[in-house]
Amino acid sequence: MADNDEIEKDFVHLARVALSGRTQDVLTYLHRIAKRRSLNKQFSGALIELLRKNPTRASPLRKGMEKALPTDTDSRFQLLRVEDTPLLQMEPVYTEHVQSTLSRLVNERQNLGALLEAGLEPTRTVLFTGPPGVGKTLGARWVARELGVPLIILDLSAVMSSYLGRTGSNLRHVLDYAKSVDCVLLLDELDAIAKRRDDAGEIGELKRLVTVLLQQLDDWPSSGLLIAATNHSDLLDPAVWRRFEQPIDFALPEEAGIRAFLGALLEEVAPDMSAWVDILSVSLIGRSYSDIEREVTLARRSAALNGKGLDHYLSQLVASDNHSKQERIEIAVRLVRNGLVTQRKAHEITGVARDTIRIHLKNNEVLKD
Ligand SMILES: Nc1ncnc2c1ncn2[C@@H]1O[C@H](COP(=O)(O)OP(=O)(O)O)[C@@H](O)[C@H]1O
Ligand SMILES: [Mg+2]
Repeated sequence: MADNDEIEKDFVHLARVALSGRTQDVLTYLHRIAKRRSLNKQFSGALIELLRKNPTRASPLRKGMEKALPTDTDSRFQLLRVEDTPLLQMEPVYTEHVQSTLSRLVNERQNLGALLEAGLEPTRTVLFTGPPGVGKTLGARWVARELGVPLIILDLSAVMSSYLGRTGSNLRHVLDYAKSVDCVLLLDELDAIAKRRDDAGEIGELKRLVTVLLQQLDDWPSSGLLIAATNHSDLLDPAVWRRFEQPIDFALPEEAGIRAFLGALLEEVAPDMSAWVDILSVSLIGRSYSDIEREVTLARRSAALNGKGLDHYLSQLVASDNHSKQERIEIAVRLVRNGLVTQRKAHEITGVARDTIRIHLKNNEVLKD
């Protein structure tokens, strides 16, 4: 029979490892106690039974990420998408400002010591705003990859489409989970919360939901990075907006951005696409990156299937967009100057009069001289 001293010591030791949250150490210690000969048979039997019923937990050293993911209790659909090792097809193209802000977020966490010594904490909450297809989701993936941590994505439009009555507790579950592991959490399509605002009868539930979100934003630990993304920042409750420490606006790409993106995109397609890059970087202004990617893929597909050559489909792409007169002239001039098409063809593609094209080509030459 174990004496009281021994039991008290075990108890204190067990309490210590349990409080430190090391489940594996608790289990190891319980196994050791259960095998102790001095133990009352009934007591050790109960312990062994308990350990036996917990076979998965008993498997050695589970990683944090293997914790069961919270699921939508109605549909059992997983609410979260976890990318353990975030991968990027290609490096994103951002403006100087966006790139340096994203790099700073990474830098803060990679040099945490310097911040802490100065009595500072790293940025905890970030809001990405901008139209669809400009690299917000991609940006969160980039940050996670740079930090070498998993990316956890909660798509709020999916959460909102599930039964609203549970959304508050679903959200709390997910956020609690994300807090407990080392990761970047992306709350994608944050405006989905705001969009439901108009539905009568659900106002109370929505208020609760926003309250949950606000609390979580305020309490977010600096050990984790929470990023929210929205295509409709105007729909966002100002109270939510204010909560984020760092807003980052992702705009539609300008000429330089499109040029860099197309350069990377067309690099593998043909040895020298620079002439087309020159044209398209003007003709595709106003489009998002994902739009541009799709158009180029469509043109490549058509070329591969119909044997007409990529040039043909790219010039169709140039012709298909609505452009101002000024832009059409610029496009026509670039088409001719790059030797891609004749002046007549440039006229057909852009609708700019051949005389006008000629005059601008001449002016350009004059300027260059
Ligand atoms: N800035 C960018 N640089 C490179 N590719 C981009 C960029 N923005 C978007 N893309 C392309 O478009 C796809 C969709 O982008 P995504 O980040 O999901 O847009 P958003 O979240 O802003 O709607 C990406 O997977 C990528 O292929
Ligand atoms: Mg997105």
